[in-house]
Amino acid sequence: MVIESSKHWTDYWNKGFLTSLPQDFPANYDGNIAKFWHQSFSELKEQDKILDICTGNGAIAVLAAEYSYNRKVLIDIKAVDAAHIDRKIISSRYSQNCKYLDRVDFFGNTHIEKLPFNDSEFALITSQFGFEYCLWERGAKELSRVLTDDGKLIIVRHSHDSNIINFMMEEKREYELVFESKIQIFIENYFFGKFSLEELNKKMEKIRKFLILAKGNKLTPVIDSFIRMIEYLVSLNIVEFEQQKGKIGVFFKEMENARLRVLDLIRVSNEVEDEEKWNRVFEKNKFVCIDSGHLMFDNLNKVGDYFVMTKVGK
Ligand SMILES: C[S@@+](CC[C@H](N)C(=O)[O-])C[C@H]1O[C@@H](n2cnc3c(N)ncnc32)[C@H](O)[C@@H]1O
Repeated sequence: MVIESSKHWTDYWNKGFLTSLPQDFPANYDGNIAKFWHQSFSELKEQDKILDICTGNGAIAVLAAEYSYNRKVLIDIKAVDAAHIDRKIISSRYSQNCKYLDRVDFFGNTHIEKLPFNDSEFALITSQFGFEYCLWERGAKELSRVLTDDGKLIIVRHSHDSNIINFMMEEKREYELVFESKIQIFIENYFFGKFSLEELNKKMEKIRKFLILAKGNKLTPVIDSFIRMIEYLVSLNIVEFEQQKGKIGVFFKEMENARLRVLDLIRVSNEVEDEEKWNRVFEKNKFVCIDSGHLMFDNLNKVGDYFVMTKVGK
């Protein structure tokens, strides 16, 4: 199950985004999120090793590298993700970050349930919107193994009442609406020769009107991108439509991947509601929570919940 889920994340990270919320954080996480992480790095000493799990394209690892660079404290930063991570793609898109990226050692195709590191290697393990996606029992055991005895595990996790989740619930409804319209099936059937282009255009026009009505006055980015796509497609003649076949396929694939990421996110935000299970998993693996709370982006917007844990000796 874990391995299957990395495919849509691999496709996403291959596009080069640094964060999993590119509309809100196109460069990297900033504001209170960056402040939170910079504070978390402040106890690190020269030569300490840190591990960022479920790193994606390394947003939190890059914040650590930025911290290390600016404070002139040389720390060893490793970053793992189950998805395939291509450093070249990240560097070409974020050339301004190269001096930080160079300090990060990426381990793609690496699940936290089986880490390629020695026992007690890391002074700090960080996870933002990460651990909750993994197999908790096996993951916590492995993190405990690679963390030094008095090391820290700091997690920022999704929470049911965050703005991110509210937004994703809205996006989920939009995807449902669009996919229920069967637009993709109609286009596929056209390519199979089941309709003429004129018939397809009539169906698409009906869907476009339906989506406009459903959208009302709301800001609905998913629906908007489908409306734009339909408007473009109905403007094409038969030859042009055929030429766009590949691009249409890519568009739907990307939309399907985005829908799967939204579903992942909603699933894990429900799972973390089981506080008892969450606490038990860490307690069982020698972690003691020394601080926790809500991470707020500002007075109104909640990013998620944070947990600062320390590992108690053997
Ligand atoms: C929401 S993204 C978080 C990325 C980044 N930490 C951020 O804050 O932008 C979740 C990541 O967890 C990774 N992931 C899911 N299960 C995993 C596992 N078992 N081991 C390692 N990474 C995993 C996914 O591939 C995905 O890149």
